[in-house]
Amino acid sequence: MTIDTSAAQAPATRLARTFPENFLFGAATAAFQIEGASHEDGRRDSIWDAFCRVPGAVINGDDGQVACDHYHRYPADVALMKSMGLQTYRFSTSWSRVRPDGGPLNQKGLDFYSRLVDELLDADILPWLTLYHWDLPQALQERGGWTVRETSDLFTEYALDMHDALGDRVNVWTTLNEPWCSSFLSYTAGIHAPGHYSAAEGMLAAHHLMLGHGQAVRELRARDTDLTLGLTLNLTVADPVDASVAADVDAARRIDGQFNRWFLDPIFRGSYPADIVADIRAVAPHAVEAWEGAVQPGDMEVISTPIDSLGVNYYHGELVGGSEPAFTPEGGDAPTDRPSDSPFPSHDGIFWHDRGLPRTAMHWEVQPDGLTTLLERVWTEYAQAADVTLFVTENGAAYDDVPVLEDGVTRVHDHERTAFLEGHLGAILDAVDAGVDVRGYFYWSMLDNFEWAWGYEKRFGIVRVDYDSQERSLKDSGLRYGEIIEARELVV
Ligand code: NOJ
Repeated sequence: MTIDTSAAQAPATRLARTFPENFLFGAATAAFQIEGASHEDGRRDSIWDAFCRVPGAVINGDDGQVACDHYHRYPADVALMKSMGLQTYRFSTSWSRVRPDGGPLNQKGLDFYSRLVDELLDADILPWLTLYHWDLPQALQERGGWTVRETSDLFTEYALDMHDALGDRVNVWTTLNEPWCSSFLSYTAGIHAPGHYSAAEGMLAAHHLMLGHGQAVRELRARDTDLTLGLTLNLTVADPVDASVAADVDAARRIDGQFNRWFLDPIFRGSYPADIVADIRAVAPHAVEAWEGAVQPGDMEVISTPIDSLGVNYYHGELVGGSEPAFTPEGGDAPTDRPSDSPFPSHDGIFWHDRGLPRTAMHWEVQPDGLTTLLERVWTEYAQAADVTLFVTENGAAYDDVPVLEDGVTRVHDHERTAFLEGHLGAILDAVDAGVDVRGYFYWSMLDNFEWAWGYEKRFGIVRVDYDSQERSLKDSGLRYGEIIEARELVV
């Protein structure tokens, strides 16, 4: 008998994993981050235009006046999406362009989005519209912004205006992007516009954002029963440093409650998480009192109005404990996003630890497994029973890209971003295998763009933008994404 040893010498077997037929591949952007033309055709200041003028608020004093000049270059940008084979494109509309100062309609602003939608449909790309990606008209901020109830009503009116203009061609509507950021990071942690530092304002803003979401869903549904409606949340997976240490487990509970359950529970269960209310009351009773005064009878029913799909934005997980780590991860004082900020008063006593995973240029750890865990959890605990499908509406990585000129063509050999993309697509397939109904993926971002308090310093794009020439170059990660989309499989 001869023994076949060829398998031992053969290279490791490559496995092709196929995406479900109904799975959509896309990329995402947001109005303020790419459009530019900040005062053209009647657009007026948003809170981000004003915030950019505050000395020290944004790195290098960057602003959104030109950004990627997408307002003028959208046909070429859509052509690039088509060349990559994108099936869908997630973008946001700017309230300040459509209802400048929050007032009467600006037809020229509406016309821009109408042209963009037509361009997408001509390219056979499904438009995925987000109504609020953080750029509140500054005039409304001067009337209290999201801390006042009037803003929820005005948001609903704006949503209906957009539907009047685009409802014949746009079927998928997301009300809010990451309300955690536009409330707590903005009104409590002071890191995003309008840059306030108030525990009470953060709680009021979060409530009014969700109220606006619920009202808009109700009104849009009443107008058009065929729409796919939902919102996008930034969710995380908080692991305790040591699951046998009570203080570590408690730190993970608090992070989960503040980032995830504070939004998931009202939307899916019509109630706020009582443990987190108690935590905040213990350190900031005035904030809880103000918030209790704002939650009116009937609000929770409105907020929990049924939705069709939930957008999950996932960038990284976190390892947290109740005592200080032996060392602080490098770059822990980043100006935006967690883990360095303390947007809740009850963050006191929570410490972020390093588990030795690779990190992106944002110093966020790369942890694709966390996405599988998150999707499984959101599915089993919330979405499945409500018949809500899941979409990963953002996931991506910033790296310090180095452009090189090869045969006259600008290339970016961004191997780390390609690995990030493939790792997270694999994590989604793991969730699909586990029975989660996840129907799509949007890489953040289609283009390098204005990364909020980081200005233009951080590049997330699969397309490089040269901000001097406005030249676009597909990075290697973008080329790879196009191949995956075409094959509809991931080779691992
Ligand atoms: C989430 C936000 O929605 C997006 O605007 C931002 O650029 C990315 N995260 C990266 O930080």
